[in-house]
Amino acid sequence: MIPFIDLQAQQERIADKLRARIAAVLEHGAYIMGPEVGELEERLADSCGAKHCVTCSNGTDALLLPLRAKGIGPGDAVFVPSFTFVATAEVVSALGATPLFVDVLPDTFNMGAQSLEAAIAFARTRGLTPRAVIPVDLFGQPADYDAIAAVAQQNGLWVLADSAQGFGATYKGRRTGTLGLATATSFFPAKPLGCYGDGGAIFTDDDALAAVLRSLRVHGKGADKYDNVRIGMNARLDTLQAAILLEKLAIFEDEIERRNAVAARYSAALAGTVHVPAVMDNAVSTWAQYTIRVPAQRRDAMAAHLKAQGVPTAVYYPTPLHRQTAYRDAPVMPGGLPVSEALAQEVLSLPMGPYLKSRETKIIFNAIHSFNK
Ligand SMILES: Cc1ncc(COP(=O)(O)O)c(C=O)c1O
Repeated sequence: MIPFIDLQAQQERIADKLRARIAAVLEHGAYIMGPEVGELEERLADSCGAKHCVTCSNGTDALLLPLRAKGIGPGDAVFVPSFTFVATAEVVSALGATPLFVDVLPDTFNMGAQSLEAAIAFARTRGLTPRAVIPVDLFGQPADYDAIAAVAQQNGLWVLADSAQGFGATYKGRRTGTLGLATATSFFPAKPLGCYGDGGAIFTDDDALAAVLRSLRVHGKGADKYDNVRIGMNARLDTLQAAILLEKLAIFEDEIERRNAVAARYSAALAGTVHVPAVMDNAVSTWAQYTIRVPAQRRDAMAAHLKAQGVPTAVYYPTPLHRQTAYRDAPVMPGGLPVSEALAQEVLSLPMGPYLKSRETKIIFNAIHSFNK
């Protein structure tokens, strides 16, 4: 079976460097907030051009912390796409606020500005106060931030970018990390920039917000951790994970290029056979996933056919969030969210990664072409 995501090839490439980094942490023993954490924060901020990077425990906390810092709570509406991983909405619910589901665009799978506008009007009819919007950079492609910012500004919302899948991507010459008031990313192992456990980071240019985030992630610390000036949490990134990320970040630009080369190979071979993913003219994706669309009645049969040929696939995501049991009572706009519903039936993600070999892509192309004959 071809690996769906090949973490081994990357590990082999930098094995000696990873070992040296891990050995250095074992040597100095500063397992919590050790020197690698600060070094990583500087390098991550430099890599995207953000003023501040605040690392944290995972991508979910990276979303939660800015919402907490901005005082999101009961009575507030926060706008999230329905076609995403549950964490995007879960953090809103965890604070007692209401996630208002927005539909996505059929070509990019990302939040649509028109649907956002409709959702804001709908939230007002429900007596909710529109406060923030969380566009998601789904599968590695940035959302259309200018279109979303225009609607957000008109309605007094601030933007929290969920770039869990999109860190390293580019939108109109700017890197993710600089496209909202705050940007959250995840270093879950399967993400384009992943560690060997849980990890995350928040990016912002706002000095005051960065200071509150740094306090919140260590129990609401003031002058030190036994001076508690606000209700916080334990949301730190482990030093060991920071050490590992430093070596992975060193090869990340090259890996983004390789991912784009793999995606280009895919699209050249598959366009005309299946519905291949579209990237906006002014964007560069990190290709966290390469996701095709297959007519709903054929999707599962195609997945089974590919599996039989040694090609694993995945469905991200089989159920839009507004259809999840956990959100059965959530308010949904009149007219529903038809694009999210259709995509859940049609999407199929293929093996993707910077080290996918042409021998492997050939097997994948043959399997898809033979299904479509
Ligand atoms: C879009 C999106 N948001 C948030 C998260 C949460 O990240 P984590 O798993 O690191 O908590 C993920 C990934 O799992 C994700 O794909």
